[in-house]
Order: sequence, then C-alpha cells, then structure tokens
Amino acid sequence: MRHSTLRQLEVFEAIARLGSFTRAAEELFLTQPTVSMQIKKLTTEVGLPLFEQVGKKIYLTDAGRELHKTCQGIFDHFAHFEMAVANMKGLKTGKLRLAVVSTAKYFAPQLLGMFCRQYPGVDVSLKVTNRERVLERLADNQDDLYILGQPPKEVNAVAQTFLENPLVVLAPIYHPLVNEKLITPKRIVEEPFLSREFGSGTRIASERFFSERGLKLKIRMELGSNEAIKQAIIGGLGISVLSQHTLALDVPMRQLAVLDVEGFPINRQWYYAYPSGKQLSIVAQAFVGYLQQAAEYLDQMSSQYANITNSQLPPNSNNKKC
Ligand code: PGA
Repeated sequence: MRHSTLRQLEVFEAIARLGSFTRAAEELFLTQPTVSMQIKKLTTEVGLPLFEQVGKKIYLTDAGRELHKTCQGIFDHFAHFEMAVANMKGLKTGKLRLAVVSTAKYFAPQLLGMFCRQYPGVDVSLKVTNRERVLERLADNQDDLYILGQPPKEVNAVAQTFLENPLVVLAPIYHPLVNEKLITPKRIVEEPFLSREFGSGTRIASERFFSERGLKLKIRMELGSNEAIKQAIIGGLGISVLSQHTLALDVPMRQLAVLDVEGFPINRQWYYAYPSGKQLSIVAQAFVGYLQQAAEYLDQMSSQYANITNSQLPPNSNNKKC
C-alpha cells in the first residue's frame, strides 16, 4: 500500500460513497478512464478486488469495506488538520456532517441555518433517517455528530442532552375526546392508533408507555413518517403519539389537537451523540457549543406550537362527529 496515493484513495472513497464510477468521476472532475486507471492501480497494490459488479450495481468486497473504513479515518484526520490550521488563522471553516432521526427534521435544518449564519465558512450536510439507521451510521462513524431521542445503548457513544422532546397524544380537532380532561391511557387504547414504522424511536417510546401499564395499542395502520401520520389523523383514520416538535409545520393549518391524557406528555430529551473515543472536529466542537445556546430558543418555539394548536379549538368541538 505504500505506493498508493492519496488521490487513489480519494477516488476509491468517492466510488464507495456514490456507488458509481461515473458519479465519482463527475464529483472529482476527472474522466472515467482516469478513475478506472486509479482503481486498477489501487487494486494491484491491495492484491484483492475492491468492488464487484452485480447487474448495473457496484458493491464493495470485504477488502473494499476494510479499505473504506481506513479511508474514512485518513480523511477525518486530514479534515481535522485543515480545521486546526484554519482555527489557528482565526477562521472556522470545514465541513459538518450531521445525521438526525426523522423527528429532528422539525428543528435541525433551522439549527443548521442559524449556525451557518454564524460560521459562513462551514459547509454542512444533513442526513435524516429513522433511529435504527442513525445508530448504524453512528456505529460506522459515518458522520461528525448525531441527534437522536435516547442515548444509544447499542453503540459505545458519548451522548449529551440539549433539548426537551415531549411526546403528546394527537387527534383531529373534531374528535370527541378533544375537550375532555385527564383521559385515561385505557380509554386511549380503545381508539384506532396510527403507528410509526419499525425502528422509529417515537414508536419504541409510545409502545413502552402503554405496555408498562399492561395496555396494548389497537394499531390500525403503520406509516413511515410523522407527516403521513399527521395527514392520516386529520383524515380521521385514528390518533397517535408524536413529538410536540412535529406540530411546527401544523401551526398554519390547526387541524390537530393535543389530548389531555394522564401520564402525558412522555418527557423525552434530544441528545447529540458521537462514538466514544472520536476526536470531534473543530467545527463539530463549535456546533456542540452552539447547540446549548440554541436549545433555549427551540424550547420556547416548541411549547408555543402546542399552545397555538389547542387555543384554536372550536368551543364545542366535542359535539362534532369523528
Ligand atoms: P424517530 O426518533 O424519528 O425515529 O421516531 C425520534 C426519537 O427517537 O424520539
């Protein structure tokens, strides 16, 4: 491997990430024959094939996967060095790769926007997926920081809370339970329930709440996103438990109500996390510091959404048919 060049590793990393020689060539402003030549030389150095092609798709071989991990380490070190130098020059430049669980999409882009205004030299990328996928990315050390709704037990990680994440019971504003006080969880499980998909943190937390009380939810439908669930609630298909943050985009519509259920809200927290032992880049360290400041503002916004939602209820909404 001593004869391999950084350029070859860069080409290899781009193909592994993009799953295509053509797209890697485009990203690196190289011709496709140059890309193929670099990979041929690298493969000769390694002495084992790095990619295999099945149909039109390219997959990493075992040796390719090992080399990919090694490349990530090497490039992380370089990025860290570049940022350290930029920091010495008094500039905060570099890249911030953030991966967040689906529900964090209601505040993460806003956080990044405010952060980028403070550090215009920082380039950001945001991956939004469910808890299970975020944990896989964390275990593979694919990003700089992760935001999720519970400290990861499955992976050895440093996790720190920075924001409240109340889970509330949502119903359409015309639902008969809307104006009732202290509804029992037993009454809630009589209603058709709309559940997030398997692997969702929201789903794990709501199922746990009811099973700890010896109750089983009557799941009518499983949907893969908070927005789909909100639409299904509005459509009268059932009720659900979602993060209060999901009301952010509902404010102009005001078609959902937060039910007053005993034991709710479920008090969860948002955490930022990263693999234990990982040395945070300077940009990631700046983002962590910034998260603590921004959390206060986001907390206020989140409780305002819930207040606005319920203050718009029609006075006799419980007379209307579901
Ligand atoms: P989810 O995670 O978006 O995957 O449901 C949210 C959470 O863990 O609270």
